[in-house]
Amino acid sequence: MKGVVLAGGLGSRLYPLTKITNKHLLPIYDKPMIYYPIQTLVDAGIDDIMIVTGGNSAGDFLKLLGNGKEFGLKHLNYTYQEGNRGIAYALSLVEHFAAGELICVILGDNILGGSIKSAADAFSKQGKGAKLLLKKVHDPHRFGVPRLDGNKILKVDEKPANPDSNFAAIGVYFYDSKVFEIIKGLSPSERGELEITDVNNHYIEQGEMTWDELEGWWSDAGTVDSLLYATNLVSRTAGKKSEMVPDEFSS
Ligand code: DAU
Repeated sequence: MKGVVLAGGLGSRLYPLTKITNKHLLPIYDKPMIYYPIQTLVDAGIDDIMIVTGGNSAGDFLKLLGNGKEFGLKHLNYTYQEGNRGIAYALSLVEHFAAGELICVILGDNILGGSIKSAADAFSKQGKGAKLLLKKVHDPHRFGVPRLDGNKILKVDEKPANPDSNFAAIGVYFYDSKVFEIIKGLSPSERGELEITDVNNHYIEQGEMTWDELEGWWSDAGTVDSLLYATNLVSRTAGKKSEMVPDEFSS
């Protein structure tokens, strides 16, 4: 299975932090944000990885990561996304890299405390279709939210005003090579983006979507509050109990 880290887009929800640099180069505690999704893939045994960069400072990814030696990798692949046309558009740029294999896609602002290895192994066995990872959250309206009927997933709603469950679809997705044909058939959403949720709903309609519940903590880091929250979680779980960690995180 090949790995893809999506680190394109303009990070406009973090302005002015992202006015002159790329969101994924901002710090989460003691490392640049992009380190965490790469490590998540490597820990799952995925070592053939492409990073989709974009926006400001794209060249800095190369300076920072090189060939991925810090992660025990021999090589890293890079490509560039112009503008902010959406997660599914960014994914379309890796079609040649995927070359027909199964892929694990992780959003560059998703920080995971737990492992995705068992999900990756299960998807390898599944061999086709797609798999989502879900996590219970207290603010599902910020995310893609699944409608569930027992173990069956019926639909994903993108940032619904009235969420159907308290699960979020986290930014880790497993797909077979059909994903690129599905993306070619998408139209932009109201926010002008090709939505990953539309891709997921396509697989659900075809009866080819499975899901697992993620163990361990998870946060995105795409807003000022979630950036701080993710930083505090990393600080706490790294056992580095900084005096700067607010009380509610240090118990
Ligand atoms: O974090 C999980 C959530 O991520 C999911 O629950 C949602 O279903 C999914 O749509 C997404 O929601 P966001 O609105 O939070 O995604 P955002 O626009 O912040 O983009 C997340 C990452 O995707 C970003 O850090 C880099 C990558 N991306 C995004 C866009 C819009 C790209 O590579 N290119 C893009 O054009």
